[in-house]
Amino acid sequence: MDATEIPGELTRVHYTEAQILDRIAEVAAQIDADYAGKSTPLLLGVLNGAIMVMADLSRALTLHVEQDWMAVSSYGAGTQSSGVVRILKDLSVDIENRHVIVVEDIIDTGLTLAYLLQNLASRRPASLEVMTMFRKPEAFDSPIDPKYVGFDLPNEFVVGYGLDYAGRYRNLRDCATLSPSVYS
Ligand code: PRP
Repeated sequence: MDATEIPGELTRVHYTEAQILDRIAEVAAQIDADYAGKSTPLLLGVLNGAIMVMADLSRALTLHVEQDWMAVSSYGAGTQSSGVVRILKDLSVDIENRHVIVVEDIIDTGLTLAYLLQNLASRRPASLEVMTMFRKPEAFDSPIDPKYVGFDLPNEFVVGYGLDYAGRYRNLRDCATLSPSVYS
């Protein structure tokens, strides 16, 4: 679905599908250049939100990559980060001496990635970088410094392009602010 198909549920579209794909092409070119001549990078998608960016980023690359997934939980069904991170699904492969790029849909407080990066670093990858499609302002107060960022967003409750509210809106093509009338 796109924003025009759910009138009244969104207050503002930040990025359309076309703008997102254009930006992903730019980031992919950067990653292609950075990893040229290196051993095959592993794109590590963080379920569930990263499924869209993983699908689009991996296909925009000209490099060979491998893909794997972790599932962690930091949010409940509400709109605030809980600070509680649990690993629900671990990697299927050993990342020792591998070039790893963690692929995220959004960094908000940075709590999820702070935990995840510490955990992954202990497995001794050759390198460990982060690509996030979106970043919210609070992320600047965290120690997380992603090498690849799609877009910065204002501090609003955004949905779409993998971002959900209570499990819905992930399949919205655009990235948009959810109307408070939906969750109040
Ligand atoms: C979201 C998002 C990040 C995390 C960012 O995941 O995908 O993993 O929250 O928030 P933080 O920077 O404040 O830690 P969520 O736990 O909502 O799960 P989901 O990907 O299944 O939606």
